Amino acid sequence: MGTIPTFIFDLDGVITNTEDYHFEAWKAICLSLNYNLSIEKNEELKGVSRSECLNKILKWANLNISSEEFNKLLNKKNDLYLKKISNLNSSNIINGVYDFIDKAKKQKHLIALYSSSKNAKFILNKLNLHPYFDAVVDGNSVKASKPDPEGFILASKLTNSNPENCVVFEDSEAGILAGNKINMTTIGIGVSSKLNIANKVYEKFDEINLKEFQ
Ligand code: BG6
Ligand code: MG
Repeated sequence: MGTIPTFIFDLDGVITNTEDYHFEAWKAICLSLNYNLSIEKNEELKGVSRSECLNKILKWANLNISSEEFNKLLNKKNDLYLKKISNLNSSNIINGVYDFIDKAKKQKHLIALYSSSKNAKFILNKLNLHPYFDAVVDGNSVKASKPDPEGFILASKLTNSNPENCVVFEDSEAGILAGNKINMTTIGIGVSSKLNIANKVYEKFDEINLKEFQ
């Protein structure tokens, strides 16, 4: 591959299982709107910003609400979510992720994060992983969330990397689409059939050999 590739990780669903808590919180909000959020529909919320998630839900539920109510629901969803992650700590790092990042760092890969979440830095700190990252891009750093590639472009700039020399690790269709748009190598993490648009898919990090990127 020539130059050592820069690794750009997603957070929710890749580094830690917070995706489950996003789902539970949205499910509760949906219930209050008399809408049943299915696991299948939730796949479409992965990687998408908080406000875009609510826009999608309102469309699916065929609902129109005032901007005041919209903001109230966003805050309510985030409060529910923050309660669920209040005890998050380094034991909540998904198996294999810590070793993968540690090895990659020792082998001189630059490590970046691009998460659509506005809570990403808070979570990275809770997991004690922040010091591993050469650049962190989150929902506060971008105007357009995934599938727009803005955040991946920013992560490549912050690490002085060419997009073609970046490898994206993502569990969401939106994230893979974003990476593909700017010719980053995309690695899908998980079992969702939505990931087959990635260059490669692995169920977990234990299965990935770093030699593949050398
Ligand atoms: C993404 C998650 O990482 O962050 C989405 O995959 C979530 O499910 C989005 O909606 C925004 O997160 P937050 O924490 O800013 O509400
Ligand atoms: Mg994710």
